[in-house]
Amino acid sequence: MSLVYLNGDYMPPEQAKISPMDRGFLFGDGIYEVVPAYHGKMLGFDAHIQRMQSGLAAIDIELDYTAQQWRQICDTLIAKNPGPNQGIYLHVSRGADSKRNHAYPQGITPTVFAFCFELPGEPVCDPELATNYHVSLEQDKRWQRCNIKSTALLGNVMHYQSGAAAGNKETILFNSDEQITEASSSNVFIVKDGVISTPPLDHQILPGITRWLILTILAEYSDFAVQQRVISKAELLNADEVWITSATKEVGPVVKVADQVIGSGQPGPVWQQVQSLFSQHKFDY
Ligand code: PDD
Repeated sequence: MSLVYLNGDYMPPEQAKISPMDRGFLFGDGIYEVVPAYHGKMLGFDAHIQRMQSGLAAIDIELDYTAQQWRQICDTLIAKNPGPNQGIYLHVSRGADSKRNHAYPQGITPTVFAFCFELPGEPVCDPELATNYHVSLEQDKRWQRCNIKSTALLGNVMHYQSGAAAGNKETILFNSDEQITEASSSNVFIVKDGVISTPPLDHQILPGITRWLILTILAEYSDFAVQQRVISKAELLNADEVWITSATKEVGPVVKVADQVIGSGQPGPVWQQVQSLFSQHKFDY
């Protein structure tokens, strides 16, 4: 039986109840995280909690949970739920008010919710066995604060869905200047002539923890040239390799973008080296 966490207690999911006046429900007024755990070991935990705390500060939600408390909640959920590999979803909304009002109400208590979902397993670095991705490509229609990991995900959901409707597993996005931002639930990397590039951090993209781990591991353990720079749509389509990265995908090799086959149409050699380095060092941070 699975158990979830809600406002201090663990309970079966069907017993977890929140008010329909919760601002998470009415406005998508909240912040979330997804932390992967393999055999009970979480990946990038401190960085995930730090990003959540900056997100909460950015929207003035005051919550006094320490990183240690979050760790205890995550460890308890991992222990209380089945399966060796789990994603842990953490969610904080501003809480429930007595009326619907766009302004932040004073003196309400945030709602804290967390649950685990089973992950199929650790991503692998074998091109024969790796999940590879066909993705759609569209203009980014989301808001100007994509650096905040907001629970208001309708823009992301619509982009993902239009990819899914075309039979794809992600949608890569470009801005009005035809510069790549990110994907609907992943960051983007390209490889050209052995150089690895990813768009720079700004308001257009989420500062992905997997992105950060990849950059950190590459700087420490490889000689690859790595650039954080603007990438045009044309460069993406002409790249030797394209990857999408996220907590659950790690380094996901993209073999087709819209109708364009990327490189050889198979996960590339740089992907294989980088996913392998990632697998070796991902728990070190
Ligand atoms: N998505 N960009 C967006 C828009 C995302 O939603 C995500 C993660 C990422 C990658 O971030 P990270 O490496 O920290 O997972 C980039 C999560 C997994 C989700 O919404 O389920």
